[in-house]
Amino acid sequence: MDELEKGPRDPCCTVNFDTRVRWPSLSIARRVKVEYRQCTNGGLEIGHGFQGREDATPWRSRKKGDGMLHTPDTDSFISIKHVSKSFGPVQALSDIGLDIKSGEFVSIVGPSGCGKSTLLMLLSGLMKRTGGDIRVGGQMVDSPRSDIGIVFQRDVLMEWRSALRNVLLQAEVRGMPMGPAAARARELLKMVSLDAFENAYPHQLSGGMRQRVSICRALLHKPPLLVMDEPFGALDALTRDQMQLDLLRICRETHTTVLFITHSISEAIFLSDRVVVMSPRPGRIERIIDIDLPRPRRLSIRESREFATYSDEVTQIFKSLGVLREGDDE
Ligand SMILES: Nc1ncnc2c1ncn2[C@@H]1O[C@H](COP(=O)(O)OP(=O)(O)OP(=O)(O)O)[C@@H](O)[C@H]1O
Ligand SMILES: [Mg+2]
Repeated sequence: MDELEKGPRDPCCTVNFDTRVRWPSLSIARRVKVEYRQCTNGGLEIGHGFQGREDATPWRSRKKGDGMLHTPDTDSFISIKHVSKSFGPVQALSDIGLDIKSGEFVSIVGPSGCGKSTLLMLLSGLMKRTGGDIRVGGQMVDSPRSDIGIVFQRDVLMEWRSALRNVLLQAEVRGMPMGPAAARARELLKMVSLDAFENAYPHQLSGGMRQRVSICRALLHKPPLLVMDEPFGALDALTRDQMQLDLLRICRETHTTVLFITHSISEAIFLSDRVVVMSPRPGRIERIIDIDLPRPRRLSIRESREFATYSDEVTQIFKSLGVLREGDDE
């Protein structure tokens, strides 16, 4: 652990100070840790994290009313009802309704600007909705949730931390005990074939490897829900295929519920139990398609007739909405 605490490229200065922050359903004193590191160009890179208590009780076993996620009494783990969101005069989302069961893998596909990222932000409590209800684990979402794992398109790694220490940032933020957290971080890095790279720094990793580190970081605290906003959008086709396979395996092994946003029809069908097709802004749910393909999914399934039928169904919806137009269309 010494090596973890004092890596060779550790921040040149760490400042700790206490503050009061709003944290999901709680307003408690937290210790904020700010790290500064001298850059080669003479500037300073700054990173920060919150340190605090973490109650190790798994969320599923907690009693209602304690501010954490619960397995709901109903079938739905996520329940989104009549949700709308406006930014001033711009209506981003209109009357969104979606129920997701625990353990389901649901993808959202839709044209640029239809409100996919906005929906993800509303679900994570990072943004306030204009109307409607969102419940996760039976509990209304009205403030940021720390028990959801989030992966963005950009990996947002701290360049001065090794792969392992980037994953462990999640543990520091939550004040998790470092010993078990490091063991779990190593286990996750192994799952994504990065065990030989735990001491590598982000600049020594490829784009796909960096994104795998962020997925490990998002999963470190065993969140029951993982939301991913075009996480593989910037990767080359081969790496993207491998990441899809890795993600499916991890979700199978960890029984995580996933809401996955993508522009790729094929990626959505390959990964999902259901694909949600959205209309252009104001984003509405146009259709929800059950993907009845066997699991575990193999890449070859993309060559099957059933896969082509699903792909054609989604393509036709986008054509009917005017999102896709053939060159020879009138
Ligand atoms: N913070 C904001 N302030 C004002 N308007 C916003 C804000 N965030 C999003 N919007 C608007 O809401 C609409 C939906 O944006 P959003 O980012 O959710 O789309 P998206 O479906 O994720 O697009 P993309 O596929 O390009 O990522 C857009 O018209 C956007 O301009
Ligand atoms: Mg987006």
